[in-house]
Amino acid sequence: MSPRPRRVVVEAPAKLNLGLAVGPPRPDGFHDLVTFFQSVSLTDTLVARPRASGYTLRVRHADATVRRARRRRPAGVPSGSDNLVLRAARAVARAAGLSGGAAFELTKRIPARAGLGGGSADAAAAIVAMAALHGVRMSRERRLALAAELGSDVPFALAGGTALGLGRGDRLSPLTLERPFRALIAVPAWDVPTPLAFRRFDRAKYGLTAWTTKLRFGQSIGRKRLRLGRLAGFGNSFENVLGSHRAEFEALCRRLRVAGVEGPRLTGSGSAVFGLIPPHGSASRIVARFAGGEALYVVRSRRTGVRIAAQS
Ligand code: C5P
Repeated sequence: MSPRPRRVVVEAPAKLNLGLAVGPPRPDGFHDLVTFFQSVSLTDTLVARPRASGYTLRVRHADATVRRARRRRPAGVPSGSDNLVLRAARAVARAAGLSGGAAFELTKRIPARAGLGGGSADAAAAIVAMAALHGVRMSRERRLALAAELGSDVPFALAGGTALGLGRGDRLSPLTLERPFRALIAVPAWDVPTPLAFRRFDRAKYGLTAWTTKLRFGQSIGRKRLRLGRLAGFGNSFENVLGSHRAEFEALCRRLRVAGVEGPRLTGSGSAVFGLIPPHGSASRIVARFAGGEALYVVRSRRTGVRIAAQS
């Protein structure tokens, strides 16, 4: 048996929803979705060390913007026991019957409550870190099931790459991107809590006829190579339930287009908006041309989800 590591460093990448359609509410309170997930190069870092018992978490914030926000956005990451890192660690310990604990240090670069899947990525990173620290052997299926208990986006954060998500977003089929891409992400100062966005969707009963078409489209994509152009018309249902923020969202999309990005759209339930940087376009020129106070990030598509970057 190889010795247990004393320190595990895990990379936890953000995700974009290249397209997202919300279906009707289900008896369990969740909604069926059709979504196209994509991991990107913006990452949080989780460092874990073994402890005899119990769990601790220190959170620090690092700036990964290419241009800082003019108005500061509250960090919004709980450092107490409801942080997803601690919930995930305890879930692994319960499932594997572990007695040992862990000390975690989380470096946050992914803005919270933006639709970029930062919390889900951190939870997935904690699953991987705990398994490595304590030598837990768990099948891929078991890991994914444990991830799904922690949140609808956590299975994708584990799997990573490009994937079609069905069910509540947890039934994944891997896809291959025809070409890697770069994107500019703009994060406004406002945010929308996800459960509220789903409730608004139910009240509006918006676009349930479009849902059937989109479900069929999603199912027809299968395992083909995914050309981003095919998703151009797919959209994101949450763009229709932004309420008083709709005008700001539209104005942001216009400013992004003027700066030179293509097809700006919301990721998750927002409020981050991303657009594609044309293949031969200059990211720095686009950033310089962008007029607005939003925080800006330049990212690349990436082929993997959470990953152990180092262990010793
Ligand atoms: O699974 P997760 O913790 O991310 O979900 C947060 C909330 O978003 C859920 O409690 C539910 O209200 C809503 N949700 C939903 N349908 C989904 C995913 C999330 O209604 N597919």
